Amino acid sequence: MWTEFAYQAQPMRVTFGPGRVRQLAGEVEALGLGRVLVLSTPGQEELAMRVAGMLGERSAGVYPKARMHVPVEVAHAARATARERGADGCVAVGGGSTIGLGKAIALAHGLPVVAVPTTYAGSEMTPVWGLTENGVKRTGRDAAVLPRSVVYDPELTATLPVGLAVTSGMNALAHAVEGLYAPDASPIVSLMAEEGARAMVDALPRLGTDGHEARTRALYGSWLCGAVLGATTMSLHHKLCHVLGGTFDLPHAEVHTVVLPHVVAFNAPAAEAMRDALERVLGTGDPAGALWDLAGSLGAPTALADLGMDERDLPKVVEAVLGAPYANPRPVEAEALQTLLAKAQHGDRP
Ligand SMILES: NC(=O)c1ccc[n+]([C@@H]2O[C@H](COP(=O)([O-])OP(=O)(O)OC[C@H]3O[C@@H](n4cnc5c(N)ncnc54)[C@H](O)[C@@H]3O)[C@@H](O)[C@H]2O)c1
Repeated sequence: MWTEFAYQAQPMRVTFGPGRVRQLAGEVEALGLGRVLVLSTPGQEELAMRVAGMLGERSAGVYPKARMHVPVEVAHAARATARERGADGCVAVGGGSTIGLGKAIALAHGLPVVAVPTTYAGSEMTPVWGLTENGVKRTGRDAAVLPRSVVYDPELTATLPVGLAVTSGMNALAHAVEGLYAPDASPIVSLMAEEGARAMVDALPRLGTDGHEARTRALYGSWLCGAVLGATTMSLHHKLCHVLGGTFDLPHAEVHTVVLPHVVAFNAPAAEAMRDALERVLGTGDPAGALWDLAGSLGAPTALADLGMDERDLPKVVEAVLGAPYANPRPVEAEALQTLLAKAQHGDRP
């Protein structure tokens, strides 16, 4: 039973529904924005062009150069483009990389961001920014980077390849898991986390077969999981993924997919609420094993080795994690962390 908590709601507007992107111009207008720069990755330029077309004279054109982990050079160039084109806001159409670029512009120039997410990463719901310089990723929290408006349109996720959708969904599940044992957890966060995890676990196996319905449910789950991430402090899982992704340049969603079952197994003895919620969601007394089975059954990676991690670098991960520790329900010691990482490296079932 909850006896004590604090909860800070995020000041943003969220709209959700198939075809919702066609109402984007209204969202931009409601924020009082007259000229917005549309951001995307090179692979989603065509979608960004369509979105710019929908915005008509409120569009300041497309900047299609977003890249994973927001390299500072890309951020500088995008900020310069926003200035040259007289943009008073940005519309980020894409996954965490594109929304991250919008946040980088907001961080420097205060331009409001409207996010149109097309993956399940959840960045649109958080005030967390990240910038990578000389291979080192810096992150921080700043209310200025929190998108003012988020438009979830499941139709835009139809093109997300199933493999990417599955790992992105596991990334979302990780937000829910850590929200359930965060030091600043609260009743509303726990409700969002369990409901988000349930929607995602239900949708993931059906993404390839039930198309629209499953993707709608997954996007709904990703919203809730992202909201959990935005409302809580990250723990061991996110720290590990941050080090593995940032220092060893491993792919973001895939790393989350491999590491999550092992962190759930590690933390389960010290995180009763998380264990109980996951047991309800997954319908088993072994949530860590069930998450590993789920990923494997959907063809997602289960070993860091398969993502290109060199086993000889694992001690550096241990050092980095212990050197600047995050909160965690179970104390993290070197030996236990080595065991956890060795299992993740080899793809052992937790
Ligand atoms: N700040 C935060 O709160 C936060 C939260 C989660 C992730 N992130 C960051 O986001 C990045 C990862 O984001 P991601 O996992 O969404 O990957 P991503 O944005 O890099 O997208 C992966 C690839 O999928 C393509 N893609 C995206 N949506 C698509 C669609 N619907 N159809 C076809 N292709 C599509 C993209 O163009 C890209 O090539 C990392 O840098 C991570 O650190 C930040």
